[in-house]
Amino acid sequence: MLSAQSLFREILDNDESFRLFCSIAASGEAQGGWENGRIAALVPDSMRHLAPKIARHGADEDKHGRLFMALLGKRGLEAAEIPDDTDYTMILEGLGIGLAHEKLRRDEPLTEQDVLTYLAHSRVTEQRASEEMTMLRKVAGDHPEIGRAVRMISRDEDNHLAYCHEELLALARAGHGRTIRALLRESALAEIKVYRDVSLAVMSRMARILGWSGPTYALVALGIHGRYVAERLGGWRRMVALRMPERRDALGNRCPGRGPRLRLRTPRDGRGGAAAQNQSRRLKIRKSTTQTVTISRIVAG
Ligand SMILES: [Fe+2]
Ligand SMILES: [Fe+2]
Repeated sequence: MLSAQSLFREILDNDESFRLFCSIAASGEAQGGWENGRIAALVPDSMRHLAPKIARHGADEDKHGRLFMALLGKRGLEAAEIPDDTDYTMILEGLGIGLAHEKLRRDEPLTEQDVLTYLAHSRVTEQRASEEMTMLRKVAGDHPEIGRAVRMISRDEDNHLAYCHEELLALARAGHGRTIRALLRESALAEIKVYRDVSLAVMSRMARILGWSGPTYALVALGIHGRYVAERLGGWRRMVALRMPERRDALGNRCPGRGPRLRLRTPRDGRGGAAAQNQSRRLKIRKSTTQTVTISRIVAG
């Protein structure tokens, strides 16, 4: 029977589809990491208190990118080229949702409006990330190869979403409510379309790689269109609501439930090839002064 679980297991079991899945995920995460890193560096003085949290957000996304690359390396695979129509982050940026990369490349401070735009965009995309990772955790949270990485990323995405809720609520209280509402609506309505289109583009490639029959792909595509219709008819509102999260200060320095802190470890060997480099690129993660884990250990399950 066709189910999210059976589809994902099939994608996981085939090297070529697994390669495409991890490559797309790694690329999106790395772009998110870069964007957040630049925003943290350019945040205006009046919002300087947000800089450490934005930097933390970026470090998490970078870590996710490296985790997906490490999963590829573990199978001896190199990253695949990302087709343009599967590049969720770049398509949203091209539509003017979130902050333009051109602006982030300049060394000019952002405005308060820019930070509102970043947080509203993140509120929407982190909702998607959190839901996707929750689904992945359900179908592959106990998978010996990827389960541990999936559980860690899922926890981080939940924290990112909590952080967006909390900071946007604070800014709404400070008088930016009307602007935030408009930005959230614009972002959500654009995102649900982009998510539909990217899902179709990714799954059509998976269908080719895995040799799905016409009716099987038609059913998958129907599911994607059905979800878009449900979101357009009202589901999008879940992406714009703001409520105080149970976990406060999820990206702060002293939150007990937050994820590990990161430190990059220099590659140990000089073997050539992206896969070999990815395998040797290990991140040391410091959760406290007494507890350290490495990306390779997470990936090892
Ligand atoms: Fe992420
Ligand atoms: Fe995230």
